[in-house]
Amino acid sequence: MSVRRLAEASVQPASFAFNKAFTAQAKTWIKKYPKGREQSAVIPLLMLAQEQDGWVTKAAIEHVADMLGMPYIRALEVATFYTQFQLKPVGTRAHIQVCGTTPCMLRGSEELMDVCRSKIHHDQFHTNEAGTLSWEEVECLGACVNAPMVMIFKDTYEDLTPERLGEIIDQFEAGKGEQVKTGPQTGRVYSAPLTGFTSLKEEKGVLKTTRDKEAKAASKAAKAAVVEATVPPSNAAKPKTDAIETSPAVKTPSKVKAAPAAEKAASVAAPKPSLEDKNRPVGIARPVAVDDLKLISGVGPKIEGTLHELGIFTFAQVASWKKAEREWVDGYLNFKGRIERDDWVKQAKALAKGGVAEYIRVFGKKPV
Ligand code: FES
Repeated sequence: MSVRRLAEASVQPASFAFNKAFTAQAKTWIKKYPKGREQSAVIPLLMLAQEQDGWVTKAAIEHVADMLGMPYIRALEVATFYTQFQLKPVGTRAHIQVCGTTPCMLRGSEELMDVCRSKIHHDQFHTNEAGTLSWEEVECLGACVNAPMVMIFKDTYEDLTPERLGEIIDQFEAGKGEQVKTGPQTGRVYSAPLTGFTSLKEEKGVLKTTRDKEAKAASKAAKAAVVEATVPPSNAAKPKTDAIETSPAVKTPSKVKAAPAAEKAASVAAPKPSLEDKNRPVGIARPVAVDDLKLISGVGPKIEGTLHELGIFTFAQVASWKKAEREWVDGYLNFKGRIERDDWVKQAKALAKGGVAEYIRVFGKKPV
């Protein structure tokens, strides 16, 4: 195992604090442990710190230690021992973890690392010039049956060829990472045999019937959700009907991972806020100068398009959202609390006040 050290002082931010959403999550984690055993929450809290900043800074480690009332050295031991913690800045758009363990190695992981070397940086744990991409070799990530594979943030990309990985890296570099299909890249269903069933053949009909029923249930639920999308209030920019029907809020996202179909159907059928709801943020007509909402972490091109359809074009609009409005938008986008977790309002306030420079001053990093 390689030596793991903290990043050099020149890249370490002076301080760290959890944002509001992550503070709430941290408190929830601490409460899960008995009184006097709060230090057991050190790993989840360090993971939250990494999720917020992209990597674990010295200030974050000390902040977590302070929160848990433990000596800095104990938190440092944990952060430097477990390889899941990134101790140096990683790419803001993608950090690619290439599995190099035997099954993936036998199926071509070395070629995948060559792609990373040529497209990102010759050495792992270094970002490309723009600071948007980085890579590392990791041990088995548990998807050996679909080797070779990589993990990017929380998603896996399997059955890879060097060419396909090159395309995926280009997509992330272009800020379109959320559009990349996760899981097997060959059309394989989960980890089923590539050449079709090799056993339980007599069950095929039963499985197919079950899948058909599940697919019908999901489709019915999706149609019900579309029907709920009605005419917007008169003081807002009117979204086009076809845009509503294809908005991410009512369409099954392409990135939904393997899950029981019943669960999928339930999530699609979750109540969707009405466009006429009083909590819908007031929209405006498209101004001459439109802000690049994609600078807000969590907003990609698709989400930006949906926000435009709702009459949301500026950072100032997002910065002014009250709790009820944030909840309406979160529900409309089917984001399950992500607006709070990513603290869109704080991000938008910084961007509205002083653009990217102010964002860097507030968050200690460039917008993703
Ligand atoms: S060996 Fe690569 S995922 Fe297990």
